Amino acid sequence: MCSFIYRHPILYNKMLRLIHRKALYRRYRHVADTIGGGKKVFELACGTALIHRFLHNDCKYIGWDLNARFVQHCKDKGINAKERDIFDFNGYPKNDVTIVCDVLHHIFPRDRQLVENALKKTKKLIIVEPYHRAFRIPEFIMKRIESLDDDGINKDPSRYMWNINKCKEFLAHFGDKIVLSTRRIGLDIIAVFDRGVSS
Ligand SMILES: C[S@@+](CC[C@H](N)C(=O)[O-])C[C@H]1O[C@@H](n2cnc3c(N)ncnc32)[C@H](O)[C@@H]1O
Repeated sequence: MCSFIYRHPILYNKMLRLIHRKALYRRYRHVADTIGGGKKVFELACGTALIHRFLHNDCKYIGWDLNARFVQHCKDKGINAKERDIFDFNGYPKNDVTIVCDVLHHIFPRDRQLVENALKKTKKLIIVEPYHRAFRIPEFIMKRIESLDDDGINKDPSRYMWNINKCKEFLAHFGDKIVLSTRRIGLDIIAVFDRGVSS
């Protein structure tokens, strides 16, 4: 069942603030600066679209998410969000930059499929993903984290959080050439893929 966090957009935002503290806004600021101005930005699984307020004013934003409450919350704030499945690859809008923030651990084991397809439809892909250091998290703690993080959409029990090694492995799969940079901010790894092609 969907965790209480995913039933209330404001509570979700507050929980994120609590977990990430000041690094939360630093991560969105960093992503917005990496994107720059005048871009068409597409966010996959946008949640409450917290990134939106950090984007340069002349960017055009569209976000997709399957959480109806989150999408309505975005709309109430005048943010262009749609209730759509991020695996509907054929429906992706034209964009310059695609963001996948805090999503891959939700959709595992389809994470690779999402990234492969997103890369085909954008010039630049920015992935932000929480990580833990390369130690084993005890099963009972992992279960607690997973139940709190249950978005009500993805039922696969093998969801995971990236550790540094997993992250490197994952990025290596897409080839060194397209990985522009990786950086850690707070609890997150941020990877920027640059295809350098038109969408
Ligand atoms: C942790 S939230 C991340 C939200 C946002 N990107 C952020 O930075 O706060 C994960 C989101 O993924 C969404 N989600 C999961 N699977 C999805 C799918 N197949 N299609 C659309 N949204 C999905 C959930 O509804 C949830 O809002």
